[in-house]
Amino acid sequence: MRDVAIISTGMTPFGELWQSGLRDLFVQAAREALMAVGSPSVDAIYVGNMSGGQFVGQEHLGPLMADHLGLAGVPATRVESACASGGVALRCGFLDVAAGASDLVLVAGVEKMNDGADVTNVLASAADQETEVYHGITFPGLYAMIARAHMARYGTTEEDLAAVSVKNHRHGARNPKAQFRSEVTAEQVMTSSMVAEPLRLLHCSPVSDGAAVVLLCPLERAREFTDAPIRIRSSGLATAPMALADRADPTFLDAVSLAAGRAYKSGGVTPSDIQVAEVHDCFSIAELCVLEALCFTERGSAGELTRAGETALGGRIPINTSGGLKSKGHPVGATGVAQAIEIVEQLRGEAGERQVPDATIGLAQNMGGSGASSVVHIFERV
Ligand code: COA
Repeated sequence: MRDVAIISTGMTPFGELWQSGLRDLFVQAAREALMAVGSPSVDAIYVGNMSGGQFVGQEHLGPLMADHLGLAGVPATRVESACASGGVALRCGFLDVAAGASDLVLVAGVEKMNDGADVTNVLASAADQETEVYHGITFPGLYAMIARAHMARYGTTEEDLAAVSVKNHRHGARNPKAQFRSEVTAEQVMTSSMVAEPLRLLHCSPVSDGAAVVLLCPLERAREFTDAPIRIRSSGLATAPMALADRADPTFLDAVSLAAGRAYKSGGVTPSDIQVAEVHDCFSIAELCVLEALCFTERGSAGELTRAGETALGGRIPINTSGGLKSKGHPVGATGVAQAIEIVEQLRGEAGERQVPDATIGLAQNMGGSGASSVVHIFERV
């Protein structure tokens, strides 16, 4: 296997982007990444997308996106793993380059959710139709059940959940590409509209449009394109039972734990080596469960860690310096690639007001549905 580097990035702002279609978002981000390295073409394209078919009626995204980038003829594949589609697309590109099959690979994540679709129902198609959705459950509802179980088992409080949103909005306020650049107080979170008890509006990631792109090549060729390559040190992917009721412990995300274990092992690192991480906070409770599954803290203690400021900029392990899904936005198929971009900016020292000083190793964790799939990448400054 060859070492693989990220050599450039491109990203649209995230938000309600009414003026741009799905293909426009992709092309905007892809052009930015290609122009940064002065390359007109690539050997392969992977497009992470959860549900172009249901959101905007568009499937078959590989050839469509290649064509609109002026690259018809290039091998191009759409990758789907619900909200983890972008992260899994990154893994496909990583393996393609590592295996020696392609040299220059474009990995994209793109989603257009604000175009009139019934978003809640489209998202629910990533849950178990027969045992969950048929009975009326939604994604906020699934995560609300996880939150209630975490509260009952560990004594996690509404204040703990609110602390995640307060932190991520504070970080997102420093991110020019974030959907919400406003800080919120714990009181505002805890009095915002109820969505699915105990999760309120300000515990939820929003409905978003956006695209994110990274270009990969073998590490040995990276300096032909950039002075600041970021090595993808390892990649781990795992799955877990789809339905919450089929999991031994709904408060523990097995797929995250397994994916992280694989990434830690093949990367030769431990959780304490990670200096900055982007994690999948689609709802505030998700961030707490993910921190525990990544072994950044003991089971049941992530709320306390967050309230103590340890996961904020300046804390022991800054989490979601981009603002996370909560504040930066969550165009579902784009999220995993956008997470990688934040880590690249951190490791390059280009994160501006959000910079974690001297970060050399970072992690991105992306998750599908209520945690039935998860992918973890570990990155390092070369
Ligand atoms: N956080 C903060 N503010 C939000 C928000 C969020 N998640 N979602 C919407 N808003 C704001 C809007 O900007 C708008 O503000 P304005 O009145 O100042 O313009 C206001 O709240 C109402 O927006 P609206 O679009 O009508 O909200 P909604 O009630 O239709 O949707 C949610 C709110 C929480 C239901 C929706 O964002 C949602 O479904 N989120 C979860 C998405 C999801 O499940 N993703 C996949 C995870 S696995």
